[in-house]
Amino acid sequence: MTEKQDSEGYNEYGNHALPKRKEPDLDEVAAQRIEELKLLLRKNAQQHRETVQTLRETRQTVRRNYHGMVQLLIEVISLGNRFLGGHLKRTAEITWNFCRSVRLSKDICYLHYYGALLHDIGLVGRNPHLTDTPPEQMPDHELQEYRKHTIYGEKIISSIYNLKRTAAIIRSHHERFDGNGFPDQLQGTAITHGARVVRIVNDWDNMIYKYNMSIQSAVESIKAGVGTLYDPRVAEKFLLFIPEWAREHDQEASVVSLESLQVGMFLKDDIILSNGLMLVPKGIILNQATIDKIRSFRSMIEDIHTVQVAY
Ligand SMILES: [Fe+2]
Repeated sequence: MTEKQDSEGYNEYGNHALPKRKEPDLDEVAAQRIEELKLLLRKNAQQHRETVQTLRETRQTVRRNYHGMVQLLIEVISLGNRFLGGHLKRTAEITWNFCRSVRLSKDICYLHYYGALLHDIGLVGRNPHLTDTPPEQMPDHELQEYRKHTIYGEKIISSIYNLKRTAAIIRSHHERFDGNGFPDQLQGTAITHGARVVRIVNDWDNMIYKYNMSIQSAVESIKAGVGTLYDPRVAEKFLLFIPEWAREHDQEASVVSLESLQVGMFLKDDIILSNGLMLVPKGIILNQATIDKIRSFRSMIEDIHTVQVAY
């Protein structure tokens, strides 16, 4: 409604009329708001990118620190029990390569890798007889003791924040697919996937490196356990993976000096320190960290100058 004004500019109520405001140009305002919004969105996107990058770096740092701590733990175990340390390292490496070869996600590969690396941690500090003797040759009281290592292992790892899924693999790595394993007699897919994988890789490593079975005999033994000991789907994929693993294992050995070791070589000899402790077990593929470790312990390595490798 338009105000009525007299000649002096007073309105009908005797008040000075307000000066007429210029109507804003709506298109101009809208365009300005859009520009402000675009600026805000650009700022938010930049902040979002920075946050994602920071989270990625934090995740990598946490993973690196975690990996370093677990490796340190395994090195300590290796110093105390030569076979057990080697077994854990090889089982973890075979598990990692197997999981990658069947294209499991990287997160699952890491989960299974750490489950394999720590699966027998419950045997650390126990009577060495428990790691040296095949379970079927143990007297009953020893077998009962041996079986507890799954529960001890789970308890040790459960005390570390956020490792519940790794702890579950450790607890269940002696379960059988048919439900006749230990400690919980879980059956089929009630056994966590990582434990079904570690179960088969653990047995494979023991057959090859502990009982010195031929690859052919070990393959037959795995086949005989399909559906009873092993998940048929995991076993089928593992049997397809064996030729890939065996390529390196079966390659003709070359003798090289410790100074000539290179990343990617498959180690066919244990490297032992002069005090009898295991430095690096046979059956692993050398990476730079392992080569650096061998060089830093060079003066303590027993009187050998060459090792057998395949590459
Ligand atoms: Fe075990």
